[in-house]
Parts: sequence; C-alpha cells; structure tokens
Amino acid sequence: MTIDLAALPEDFLWGTATSAYQIEGAVAEDGRSPSIWDTFSHTPGKIDNGDDGDLACDHYHRWREDIGVMRQLGTNAYRLSIAWPRVMPGGDGPVNAKGLDFYDGLIDALLEAGITPSVTLYHWDLPQVLQDRGGWPVRDTAHHFASYAAVVADRLGDRVKHWTTLNEPLCSAWIGHLEGLMAPGWTDLTAAVRTSYHLLLGHGLATQAIRAAVPGAQVGIVNNLSYIEAATDRPEDVAAARRLDGHTNRWWLDPVHGRGFPADMQEVYGVELPEQQGDLETIAAPLDWLGLNYYFPSTVADDPTGQAPRVRTVRRLGVPRTAMDWEVDAAGIENLLLRLTNDYGARKIYVTENGSAYPDIVRPDGTVDDPERTEYLEQHLAACASAARQGVPLAGYFAWSLLDNFEWAYGYDKRFGLVHVDYKTQRRTVKGSGHRYADIIRAHGRKRRNAA
Ligand code: IFM
Repeated sequence: MTIDLAALPEDFLWGTATSAYQIEGAVAEDGRSPSIWDTFSHTPGKIDNGDDGDLACDHYHRWREDIGVMRQLGTNAYRLSIAWPRVMPGGDGPVNAKGLDFYDGLIDALLEAGITPSVTLYHWDLPQVLQDRGGWPVRDTAHHFASYAAVVADRLGDRVKHWTTLNEPLCSAWIGHLEGLMAPGWTDLTAAVRTSYHLLLGHGLATQAIRAAVPGAQVGIVNNLSYIEAATDRPEDVAAARRLDGHTNRWWLDPVHGRGFPADMQEVYGVELPEQQGDLETIAAPLDWLGLNYYFPSTVADDPTGQAPRVRTVRRLGVPRTAMDWEVDAAGIENLLLRLTNDYGARKIYVTENGSAYPDIVRPDGTVDDPERTEYLEQHLAACASAARQGVPLAGYFAWSLLDNFEWAYGYDKRFGLVHVDYKTQRRTVKGSGHRYADIIRAHGRKRRNAA
C-alpha cells in the first residue's frame, strides 16, 4: 500500500512506545519496591497463564541492545515510562539514586543515538506502599505523584523536554477500580470515580511541577479515546453511545480543557466528586499537546441493567479483528484526530500509541512474518496522513510497541511488537512490520531531503 506522507511535517516524530512494567523486569533490583502490578500479577487467576512482569523483556539489562533495535528501525523518538517504585520506593520519598541513574543513562544513550526521548511519568505502576495507604481514591496520592514528578523532572529535565503526566487514566480508573480487570482489581464505582478525579488532579499538579523544573518543557496527557457509534438509531442506543462517549472520551478531555466534569456523566455515576476549591483550575493547566492512543472503534447498544455507563458492545459482522478480538477500523483514528482538532482546539497532537496484536509466524530461518500487523500499520498511518491533510496538527506517531511485551491481564501471549521477543532466549528479531515501518520512515525522510 502506498501512503502519501506529504502532509506530515518535516520534523515529524517517528517513534515507538513501551512502558516500564511491561518491558523492564528486574522488579527487585537496585532498590525498586513492588508496584500494584507486581501484587496484581502475582494474585492467582488475574493474569492469563499465570504470567507476571518479573523478567518481561529484561530491558533493565538489555536497554543498550534495545536502542540498537530502534536505530535499526530508523526511529527518531522513543516513548518510555518511568517506574515510580524505582525512583521513590517509599511512594512519597526518599529518592532512590540507583533508580534515577538507570533512566539517566538510558536518556543519555537515546540522545547519543539521535532519538528524542518522550517520558511518561505514570503508566499504571503505583508503588504498592501508596496503595496500602488508600491508593488513588485518596487525595494525598495526587500530591505524592506531583512530588515524584518534580524529582524526575529535576533530574532529567536538562535533556528531556517531552513530558507526559498520565498514560490512559481511563484504564487506571475504570478498568482498575470499576471492572477489576487491572491493578488494583477493585469493582467499586465510588472508588473509581474518586480515582478518576485524583488522577486528573495529579496530572494538573504534576504539570505545574514539570513546568517549574524544566524550562521549555512540552507537557501533555495521553488518553485512549474511542470512536463510538450507536448500534441502531433507537433513542435508547443513541443515548447509550452518548454515555460511552462520556465515560471514555469526554470525562477525560473536558476537565483538562477547562470544561469541568461532564454533568450528564456525573448524573450517570451518581457519585459526589471530591472537589475542593481551585481543583478545576489546577486540572485545566494549559497543555502543549494532546496524546491519542487509538486501537479500535466501539459500536454499542443500551444495557439498562448493566453497571455504569450501562452499555453493551455490539459485534459488527464482517469487520476484521486482531488477536485481542478488537475491530480493525482505521477510520476511527482519523475521526478522533479531527475531533481533537475541531472540538477541543488541539494545537499539537501526537498519536502516542497505535498497534495490533497478532500471532507471529517465526520462520525456520528466524525471520518473523506478520502481514496483518503490517497492513494495520499501513492503514492507520494512511488515516493519520489523511487527517493531517485536513489540517490536523499531527506532530508524531509512536507505534505500540517497540517490543512484544507483558500485555497486562493477557500476559505474554498477545504480541504487539514491531520486534519479536523470544522470551526463552530474550532474542530480538525485527518483524516484517518493523521493516515496513523503517521503509515508511525512510520514505518520509527522502521526501524531506528532496524538498530541501
Ligand atoms: O499494552 C497496552 C499499553 O500499556 C497501554 N495502551 C494499550 C496497549 C495495548 O493494550
């Protein structure tokens, strides 16, 4: 498939993304304390095959090799997350020098390789000690998060300009505290709503802390948004789609844009927000960019007896699906990019994650073939380029993921990497999709050079 990349800017960031718990391993090394994901993954029955992140991709020891892999792909950016329990094993202090040293070395090596680091402060690995003190449903956690953010920004901010406060707070709040399928595994609507509130408060406080520590910081938040349609035009289904849009999209976007928490959703949840004076202003701290993580669209119908937001997903027939059973539909990413631009006035957007899980074919000669992932990548990049042609200020694309890794409750079976990981040997092999990504990046670079 040919992709017209002409509308993408010259300084476009072509990246890959990972997160600490999914790749690092070394969970008990150099002073790291357990996170809620260590606890959750070691709780019987929570993770497919009883997998855990103890070793993962052993990136903590193999990061130099992994930067080599990025160079092979030709990427000029890398989105990583910092493990809070490595840097502040006690949750609210003291600082663990060895934890910070690890990221310090990684950042230096990335820069030496010509790869811009994009640092996420929270990708779900809350120190267990803070969970034991109440976790995100408790307001103090937001303040502890900001203190931790200040420490990291202070140490890395001379070299890192690209900062994300939270990755997909929806997952922490709704999947972790309402559906119980992610750490800490709660099913409590009140706790979930309080969590959502304190996460966004923490985001606002951390934004202030980063700006105070890093001159020229570019700060954003990363949301996994969904393109949602009603299964029928029955008013009940249309209302259900509106509720899911509130739950998935507006609850996370409106407050950071100074619009407060959507009133219709406050009614749906029926939970009083733990609001204090000035919070909404803190949450709406101006941002430099928005991050969009996109995987699949949702078609929904009313589910009057279900839990909030009382919707059920409807399977569309004839639509291809990934190994996650997620629909493949690139129109969703284009729609969401346009919505962020037109409805929320985004001035800069990064696709901070996009990717697909499929079983890989490892050939006898060691090469790895993944035609479906390649097609997914091409279709979604074409949709991004189309959005850019329509005026979306798209500044970068980060493929999820650099490596196959620990896919949370699904364990290691679901492979999202552009690079295959043999978990027995930890051997990395660039897949067909990784080679295709490298070609696309090269083609964009060629265009730049020709234009110059
Ligand atoms: O693996 C996750 C990642 O941690 C957050 N976004 C979605 C990915 C695929 O499920």
